[in-house]
Amino acid sequence: MNRQTVIRLLIIVALILAVSMLHYTTTIQKAHFHDIFRRLYYIPIVLGGLWFTLRGGLGTAIVVSVVYAPHILLQWGHHPGIDVAQYLEILVYNVIGTLTGFLSQRELAQKMRYLKTSIRLEESYEKLRGQADQLLEIEEQLRRADRLSAMGELSAGMAHEIRNPLASIKGTAEILRDGMDRRDKKYEFAQILVREVDRLENVVRDFLSFARPDGGVHEEVQISAALSDVLILTRQQALKSQVEIRYDCQTTLPLITGNFEHLKQAFLNFVLNALQVMPKGGVLTIQCEVNQRILRIAFADTGPGIPKELQERVFNPFYTTRQEGTGLGLAITHRIIDAHGGRIKLESQPGEGATFTVELPIDKREENL
Ligand SMILES: Nc1ncnc2c1ncn2[C@@H]1O[C@H](COP(=O)(O)OP(=O)(O)OP(=O)(O)O)[C@@H](O)[C@H]1O
Ligand SMILES: [Mg+2]
Repeated sequence: MNRQTVIRLLIIVALILAVSMLHYTTTIQKAHFHDIFRRLYYIPIVLGGLWFTLRGGLGTAIVVSVVYAPHILLQWGHHPGIDVAQYLEILVYNVIGTLTGFLSQRELAQKMRYLKTSIRLEESYEKLRGQADQLLEIEEQLRRADRLSAMGELSAGMAHEIRNPLASIKGTAEILRDGMDRRDKKYEFAQILVREVDRLENVVRDFLSFARPDGGVHEEVQISAALSDVLILTRQQALKSQVEIRYDCQTTLPLITGNFEHLKQAFLNFVLNALQVMPKGGVLTIQCEVNQRILRIAFADTGPGIPKELQERVFNPFYTTRQEGTGLGLAITHRIIDAHGGRIKLESQPGEGATFTVELPIDKREENL
């Protein structure tokens, strides 16, 4: 019972007691006073009904009847002025108590219904808001995909236009260079020309693979073969920057359905990035793990790490902090892994290195082996 209930009960009991006291202590000669006191009983009865519904109304009326009846019998019973109205009053107490209780009970039930409806309404509103948020998120993703695809088309067209003249420039530059004496100062310029054209060619190739990354995802790929190719390709660079590569993958891993060259490109991007952020040495750990239907490949470096607020952005096209970077490496990698039904997780604390984990779904046929 809470405080309010106790206080209300006490008020009702006090009122009944007070009115009864008046009845029992006032002589019956003062009949008009008794007429007033009789009506005072309605106050606790109505309060009982209002506060404690049907049970309260009827209960108070019965208590009042029980307390009041002896007064009529004992004090008025021997008096000629006894009126049948006094007995009738007892009946009316009970009728009023029941009626007030009934009405207040109905109102309470109505209130509860409203409350339930409002709670349900609130829940629906919350759900609706959640769905609206989801919709906004999807819209944002679509907008991003749209931007990417518009950019993909643009870059494909541009790359196409640039590629042919670039091939001619490179050919001409090579002819010029080869016709020069190696000691000639101009030889070095021609060499720079060839090297820079090479770099441009790479950028163009990146653009193209960014524009259409998912061509031909159908072969069965042995990931360890792709990884060891990447290790061979990067060995020299790792030696030069004194980065120790710790390789911890089984020779035969479950097969992945996909494109060997594209996956190799994706892994190469992680390794190159790691080597580039550790020019003064460090450790790159490549770990593989098979868990249920997922193959996880983690590339963990001991480089400078990536601050939390930049972790989303590193996958955006053209986001780069390197002077000679294009910022397409991770964007392409993301697309490749997406096209394989996988995902990339990035964990990093600034100053404590970064870990890129690729999760790829294992070839369905493998599960039956
Ligand atoms: N392992 C890493 N540790 C810290 N920063 C990284 C790491 N990998 C990538 N980054 C950050 O993300 C940026 C984007 O990487 P991304 O590979 O997309 O482009 P890039 O390496 O700058 O250029 P590109 O790969 O096209 O030559 C990098 O410039 C670097 O700032
Ligand atoms: Mg890169």
